[in-house]
Amino acid sequence: MSKIFISCALPYANGPCHLGHFRSTYLPADIYARYNRMIGNDVLMVCATDEHGTPIAVKADKENKKPIEISKRYHDMIMDDIESMNVTFDNFTRTTDEKHYEIAQNFFLNLYNKELIYKKNITQLYCENCNKFLPDRYVKGICPICKNEARGDHCEKCGIALEPTELEDPKCLTCDSTPILKETFQYFFKLSDFEDDIKEYIENNKNLPDNVRNYASNWINEGLNDWVLTRDMNWGIPVPLDEAKGKVIYVWGEALLGYISSAAQWSDKTDISWKDYWNDYVVHFIGKDIIYHHSIFWPGLLKGYGCKMPDNIYAGEFLSLEGEKMSTSKNWVIWISDFVKNFEPDLLRFYLTINAPLNKDTDFSWKDFQRRINNDLADVIGNLLHRTFTFTNKFFDGKIPPYLNPSDEDLEFEGIIRKLPDTVGEHISNFEFREGLVEIFRVCKIANKYFNDQEPWKAIKEDSQKASNTLYLSNQLAKTLAIVLKPYLPTKAGEIVEIMNLTTPNQWKDAKAYLPEGYQINKPKPLFKKIDDDIIEVQIEKLKQNLKYNCEENKMTDLITIDDFETLDIRIGQIKEAEKIEKSDKLLKLQVDIGDELRQIVAGLAQYYTPEELINRKVAVVVNLQPVKLFGTLSEGMILATDESAALLSPDECEIGERIR
Ligand code: MF3
Ligand code: ZN
Repeated sequence: MSKIFISCALPYANGPCHLGHFRSTYLPADIYARYNRMIGNDVLMVCATDEHGTPIAVKADKENKKPIEISKRYHDMIMDDIESMNVTFDNFTRTTDEKHYEIAQNFFLNLYNKELIYKKNITQLYCENCNKFLPDRYVKGICPICKNEARGDHCEKCGIALEPTELEDPKCLTCDSTPILKETFQYFFKLSDFEDDIKEYIENNKNLPDNVRNYASNWINEGLNDWVLTRDMNWGIPVPLDEAKGKVIYVWGEALLGYISSAAQWSDKTDISWKDYWNDYVVHFIGKDIIYHHSIFWPGLLKGYGCKMPDNIYAGEFLSLEGEKMSTSKNWVIWISDFVKNFEPDLLRFYLTINAPLNKDTDFSWKDFQRRINNDLADVIGNLLHRTFTFTNKFFDGKIPPYLNPSDEDLEFEGIIRKLPDTVGEHISNFEFREGLVEIFRVCKIANKYFNDQEPWKAIKEDSQKASNTLYLSNQLAKTLAIVLKPYLPTKAGEIVEIMNLTTPNQWKDAKAYLPEGYQINKPKPLFKKIDDDIIEVQIEKLKQNLKYNCEENKMTDLITIDDFETLDIRIGQIKEAEKIEKSDKLLKLQVDIGDELRQIVAGLAQYYTPEELINRKVAVVVNLQPVKLFGTLSEGMILATDESAALLSPDECEIGERIR
């Protein structure tokens, strides 16, 4: 048995979690942790919110709040997000926790006393108006490389890391005045001392996946500079030296220690030493944008302190959304909290895992999500389970039937079932999460074919032993699925456990023990429902709206000209016919008289009006909108209504065909 220390990168407490966070970090970590617990390893999985740094301080300034109020707000949201996705942390703390302050300050002092941290004078940007230095994101300006607007620590456009002093035309983010250069001192970590150790770590650590190793080697070949480990600001952990008033430890110089402080907090609660876990096997799950910090900076710090370097670093790659880069500032994003309002968490766990290896970039699209859930999860896995349970109840009183004189097909299928737990387990231990799930899926496909070929619904009348064997084996597979699906789809696996009355569903090795003849299962219930088109349409529409609102918000000061307005052709029309569109509970098909012609328009009014209520109503219609097809029905225009309540703009005293300006 091993002890395994698992961590997830600490999310910044300046926003809730979206699908990208979940895919790159929490999902792979949770699959790995759950599996390891099931094979009897002793797992400690920790995380915390990362609550210091300039983005949170800047946000607080903007909202006229204290930084801790901001970080508490998002800490709570993040906790909810993580719980709603069933991620099984053993401890989740905050970098504003007392314990973390203590550990971070002691760590700093330890390195300082060993002279691995030294003091040096440097010039930094200073705002004379605000009377403060401007670290990182407290300053904006022009990127010296790509000439786009950038923040003090990095340029979003070209992705380069910057020093505030490198910005052209720098401006104070708070008051917009031009800062001056002013002498100050900061503390540096002697990262350059560890160049050889880190190089050796990266090159010889067999565990490190390729994306991490390649990235890190590229960096290290550039040579390592010492790291500025402190900032002049008041939001952060104070540098624990008398001479360093007004200085805090740089957020990256303490956030990493959150892994340790979270574990130490857990130790305080449980009286079990976290160090045993660290010393046995440590794996950090992170997003690919912070490989540098984990593969170079962190091993350097740990080496300096005298602590073992991580055994493994798993870097999940990026998720785009409907083909576009996700962007929280543009609201091109799906928040976890929105997702779980409409869909079960296991559906997301399934989709994100099967869609592409988690350490490769991929895309989330609603249509593809629907396809995977309906065609793969519901049709293949769901159908297999449902048929198995229904037949067992119908033909065998819910008892596992006897298995006698197996045919060649039976034996072949039995062999496939027996192999499944080992194959899946091996994939998960090798961090090949998708491959494990694909294997489960492959076996379920074979099982469906076997079931079809055996035709137990016919055989039950002609050759009942044949039907009995089919159902015996299908039930054994269902039981195996209750176990091997658990790391991926914990809730659904739990539902299979309930239907099958399983008593030891938490042990991987139990997947191999067969249910005896006569074992009683319960009545089935449908496990996976298909997702209807209109549910997906609503989600797609919502995304588009987000984008639209956001553009509007950004453009608030950009007034439109009369010419812009003139491009809209809005007229009074009268609804002549209205009917429901099949398969959609939101849409109505309307025929609208706009004066010189009758237009067909599809409108999202079905939840607010019955077709009868609409007949003869006068409405405002945008008549020069590009035609689109909705649910296969052509729509040539738009009926104006308010957004939330769909109240129609309905000027009864107007003439049909009149134009609105
Ligand atoms: N908050 C950082 C980010 O989201 C990650 C910190 S990870 C830690 O990029 F290791 F430093 F904790
Ligand atoms: Zn200023």
